[in-house]
Amino acid sequence: MLEPLHRARASAWAKGWAVLAVLLPLASVVLLLAGTAAAPDPRPEPSPAPSCEPSGPAPGPYCPVPEPGSLRALAAERDLFIGSAASAQALSQDPKYAAVLAREFSMVTPEDAMKWPRVEPQAGQYDWSDADRVVEAARANGQTVYGHALLWYASTPAWLADGSLGDAQIREAVHRHIAEVAGRYRGRIWGWDVVNEPLEADGSLRRTAWSKAMGPDWIADAFRAARAADPQAKLFLNEFGVDGDGAKSDAFYELVRGLVKKGVPIDGVGFQSHVDLTPVPGHRVENLRRFAALGLDVAITEVDVRLILPPTAAKLKKQAEVYRRTLQDCLAVPECVSFTVWGFTDRYSWIPNLQSGAGMACLFDAELVPKPAYAAVAGALSRTP
Ligand code: XIL
Repeated sequence: MLEPLHRARASAWAKGWAVLAVLLPLASVVLLLAGTAAAPDPRPEPSPAPSCEPSGPAPGPYCPVPEPGSLRALAAERDLFIGSAASAQALSQDPKYAAVLAREFSMVTPEDAMKWPRVEPQAGQYDWSDADRVVEAARANGQTVYGHALLWYASTPAWLADGSLGDAQIREAVHRHIAEVAGRYRGRIWGWDVVNEPLEADGSLRRTAWSKAMGPDWIADAFRAARAADPQAKLFLNEFGVDGDGAKSDAFYELVRGLVKKGVPIDGVGFQSHVDLTPVPGHRVENLRRFAALGLDVAITEVDVRLILPPTAAKLKKQAEVYRRTLQDCLAVPECVSFTVWGFTDRYSWIPNLQSGAGMACLFDAELVPKPAYAAVAGALSRTP
């Protein structure tokens, strides 16, 4: 399941450095001989530092070796990306947070930093600082970046939603946005959530600023624009509330099937999996498999399991079980490429803002101490129940 493209890229890197490793000593002998005639300079020629290139769930040739027993090391053995959403702000201000993110996860999804209002707060005025920070930290730690999200109705910039633009201008802005963002990070993003949350709860297509302007083909259009901007990135459609069986899942399946049938360049389907302690809808494995049978990757993209506070030992145990089952269901499907949590620590989780009285949804508590859910995920990865 390792990505052929990334494998090829990784091996090209390895070959390049092998050739350099042979040539550099030869070059220094030549320089040394030349140097005996000319003015001697004892300093060696600076050689370029090899950079860390993530190549798949396992680290690339120059990446730090994952710490044994970390989720990252365990997931590499299962050929699975283990991911977390990452906050650009926490990364820059909280070294302990940054260290745990680097140690435990092989994939990073910028939690908010790549959303449209963040990268283009005013029309035509870009701010890449947070997005660059997350991408740069990931590169330094040999982590793969999952881009999130090119078009999400809940992240529509105010300047686009205020009614001042006509349909043609909105279409033009959507195309420019995708070209700018996916183009800027071309080659550095493994996969993109091209469209996030296209459906209403009843399975009908959500009406968004762009659907009104561009008509029903806006999703297909967005995928084509993303492919043009970054031909190597895998292109995903991401949704919530479609984990098991149900009307929304069926509608989602029909939407995806229709895109595939039309030849739209879609490579994968993301299942957010924001859940609480109530049982997930049944038949998740079968659900993942029917999407995979369309020739697509599937991914668990945003897992968190919220509790109603205060926590009790029983709730934390139940939470651990939900995490474990979710991961096991992913592992049961060969096309399930990644298991990503929506933040790894209760210190910065979005859940208390989403639902008052709820929280403690992550693998680590607010002190960055692993919870029972962490042990459950590690156990599922290492096949020990
Ligand atoms: C959330 C972030 O976690 C918050 O920081 C932000 O305020 C709102 O968005 N589905 C998604 C994510 O696809 O982008 C959302 O992230 C959570 C729900």
